[in-house]
Amino acid sequence: MFQPVFEVSGIEDLLDGRKDGEAGSLMAILEEVQARYRYLPKDALILISERMGVPLSQAYGVATFYNAFSLKPKGRHIINVCLGTACIVRGSRRVLERISDRLEIRPGETTEDGEFTLETVNCLGACALGPVVVVDGTYSGQMNAFKADNLLRAVIGEVEAA
Ligand code: FES
Repeated sequence: MFQPVFEVSGIEDLLDGRKDGEAGSLMAILEEVQARYRYLPKDALILISERMGVPLSQAYGVATFYNAFSLKPKGRHIINVCLGTACIVRGSRRVLERISDRLEIRPGETTEDGEFTLETVNCLGACALGPVVVVDGTYSGQMNAFKADNLLRAVIGEVEAA
């Protein structure tokens, strides 16, 4: 469940029952906090570190090592545009520009309403489908600026209808 504003009490339930130094506990709790807030708030990392008895540097180390974690709030919907070589030669930069213009954010940013985060990736392993855009884990291939408009329209329409 998404809770945009972090409060210490918001993760007490996650910390209860965790044993200090338990293998996998740090990773597991970070995953749960990420899922709950869509990022890892600094105060959450401090609290987790204190309560689990692990150095803050270790918590930050894990938080920054894995792409699944973010230290900045992310949008409800994640849009990834592939900028790998195979996608670039087929025009993925134009696709990225179009999405960036439409959402009025640059890669790495999140819309003010917290709905969309725009990211880039170097290869999604689907080069034959390039240019590839992934929205919330769903791949769309052979993208161009026109198709990107339609894709965005559909996603924004779902957001507005929700
Ligand atoms: S370069 Fe885009 S999927 Fe491989």
